Parts: sequence; structure tokens; C-alpha cells
Amino acid sequence: MPTLFEPVKIREMAVPNRFVRSATYDGCADTSGHVTGAQVALFEQLAAGGSGLIVTGIAYVHDSGRISAYQNSIADDNAIDGLKRLTDAVHDKGARIAVQLFHAGREAAGFLKTKNRQAAGPSVVAGDPYFQRPYRAMTEDEIYEIIAAFGDSAERARKAGFDAVQLHAAHAYLPAQFLSPHANRRQDDWGGSLENRLRLHSEIYGNIREKVGQDYPVLAKLGVADGFDGGLVFDEGKQAAQLLARWGFDGLEISSGLRGKRYSETEFKTGISRPEKEAYFRQWCRQIRDLVDVPVMMVGGLRSPDLMAEIVANHEADMISLSRPLIREPDIIRAWQSGDRKAPDCISCNKCLEALYKGQQLHCAQQKSRAEG
Ligand SMILES: Cc1cc2nc3c(=O)[nH]c(=O)nc-3n(C[C@H](O)[C@H](O)[C@H](O)COP(=O)(O)O)c2cc1C
Repeated sequence: MPTLFEPVKIREMAVPNRFVRSATYDGCADTSGHVTGAQVALFEQLAAGGSGLIVTGIAYVHDSGRISAYQNSIADDNAIDGLKRLTDAVHDKGARIAVQLFHAGREAAGFLKTKNRQAAGPSVVAGDPYFQRPYRAMTEDEIYEIIAAFGDSAERARKAGFDAVQLHAAHAYLPAQFLSPHANRRQDDWGGSLENRLRLHSEIYGNIREKVGQDYPVLAKLGVADGFDGGLVFDEGKQAAQLLARWGFDGLEISSGLRGKRYSETEFKTGISRPEKEAYFRQWCRQIRDLVDVPVMMVGGLRSPDLMAEIVANHEADMISLSRPLIREPDIIRAWQSGDRKAPDCISCNKCLEALYKGQQLHCAQQKSRAEG
């Protein structure tokens, strides 16, 4: 029976335990998208605190997919030296690190407007209740340029010392927009059938694999259902997960796709006040775990170490991914390992997220207000 503090292998990457720090944007890069001392300190703390595999926040692979002034870039070679500082800091503490490869698609509209540029997504959805900013549909040439940018960025990641890359194919962003029948209304080979809506993912995978070689772990965080009716349904999301694994993705983190209007229709649900509210993607994850033969990571409201142990022991997931609890207590996994099975102090209020939207650096708002009070 597997346990939480047992190592796991993802292709050739040996991870010391079953805990993943799920990708968490930190708003701490400099305005060129380069790594700062604050980020090195944060990653060092997470690695020392017991996370076996740390996934960085969203790193943009092409400037048409950038979403914030304080976001990391992996879009050109100038980023490599800084990224190397991050990977060195994590390796010194014995943990593994993956970079999350990201393109915002239409969601870049807000940031690109400040640069007098227009964002592009798969297709324009007139009167979309979930996305109101102006954007345009991508041309096929642009799609191919972005696919190549994912591959080039993965090659840079390997040079910078990352142990793996993770394709961000969840939440509101470009691959999830292509997969969603709500956001993707294209009439060409990139829209329509599930196979066509997954063509972007497949081409990105092929381009990355060609540039990083067969031995390098390529992971994906996959949104398997949209947060509202009329979007991606789980039955298709499940098939998508199987296809990704079949093509050669080495590990899958199971999350949601496009967001609805309320937190309850997103990947970061609030009000996780009772054990029954924890692990809100558990049913999706365990079904997919049964269908694929690559390691699967469960994310979404996991809070009690006993529940995490049960999930891993039952083979419902191979790894447990955490975001919000580690913002407040980056060392809580070490505490669990030493026998203190305390519940996280995080109350899942999402004030951390709201502060980031205002351009602040990542912090726990509850902790800060307690310190100030
Ligand atoms: C402040 C904040 C930043 C996040 N940034 C990212 C990100 O960069 N990439 C990503 O895939 N998910 C991101 N997420 C989602 C988390 O990785 C995770 O999927 C979600 O918060 C649910 O896990 P949790 O309940 O452990 O927080 C972010 C979440 C929060 C709260």
C-alpha cells in the first residue's frame, strides 16, 4: 500500500515523496519576467518545507500569452540564468522542480491592452457571459508559432535545470479554451470534434518531445470539465486524459477547465470547512487514475493529512497537490512527516488570489492581517 512519504518515479525523475506544490502564480518576477531574490527564497522555503515536487507558477512561452507585468517568462533565452537560480535552490534542499508552461489565449486581453495589443483565442464567442473583453480569433500561422514556442520553452527549461515541464491545460487558458466546445467554435481542423479540439495539445506535445528528448518528463495539468453548463463535459475530459497519457505525457494533474462566474465554478473553491468539502475533484481524479498508467496528481481542496493518506493508499491518486495551504505554511509537509498531523491554518478564503489580482505579491492575507493586528 503506497504511503505519502514514499518516493515515486515519473519517467526518470525520482520524487522523494508524494507531495506536489501545485502551480501557484506569485507575482514576484521583475517586469522583464526574470526571477527575483524573493522567488528564490520562496522556492527554497517550499523545498525545505517538504514539497517533493514544486511546480512554478504560470511562465509565459510567448509574449502574446502573457497575463501580468510580474509574471515569469520562459519565452527567450535571457530568462535561463535566473531560472537556474530557482532550480539550484530547490535541488540544494533535495526536492524536484517543474516549470509550468503557459499561454493565456484570450485571457491575456487585460494585460495586452496596456501594451495596445489585442489578445487572441480559438474563436470569438459573441455575448459570452464568462468573458467580456475584446479579443480576436487566432490564425493558423499564429497557432503554429505558439506550438513552437511551447517546444522552445521546454528546451530552455531543460537547460535551466528543471526536472520536468508541466503544460498548463486547465482553467481558463489557451489549451483549455481550445478543448472547450464553449470557447472553441472553429470550423477548421482545430475545432469541432474532440480530436480536433485536442489537436493543439497533441501538436504541443509532439513539439516539446522533439526538443527535449524521450527521457525528459512532460506533465500536464488538465481541465476535465468546465465550470458551467454548455462547456466541456467530464465524459470528454476523461477521454482527453486517456489520449494525453497515450501520446506520452508522463503525469497528469486533474483539475477543472473554463471558469464560471462564482468561485464554486472554478478550480479554487472556497468554504472548505468540513472534511466532506475537501478533495472536490476526487471523483474525476480516481476515475482517470483507473484508466491511465501514468502517475496522477489529485488537486483541489485537500486539507487533512489522513484523507491524503487514504487517497494514496487506495490508488485514487499517486500524488497529492496543494496550493493555498502552502502559501500560509510552506513547511507544513515537514510537520506532517515528523508526526504532527495538524490541519492546515489556511481557511481557503481566496484573499491571496484577490491580492494578486491587485498586483500585490503572493502572501496569506489572513496571516498578514493577524500580524498587523
Ligand atoms: C494564489 C493562487 C495562484 C494560483 N496560480 C496558479 C498557477 O499559476 N497555475 C495553476 O495551474 N494553478 C494556479 N492556481 C490553482 C492551484 O494550483 C490549485 O489548482 C487550486 O488552488 C486548488 O488547490 P488548493 O485547494 O490546494 O489551493 C492558483 C491558486 C491560487 C490560490
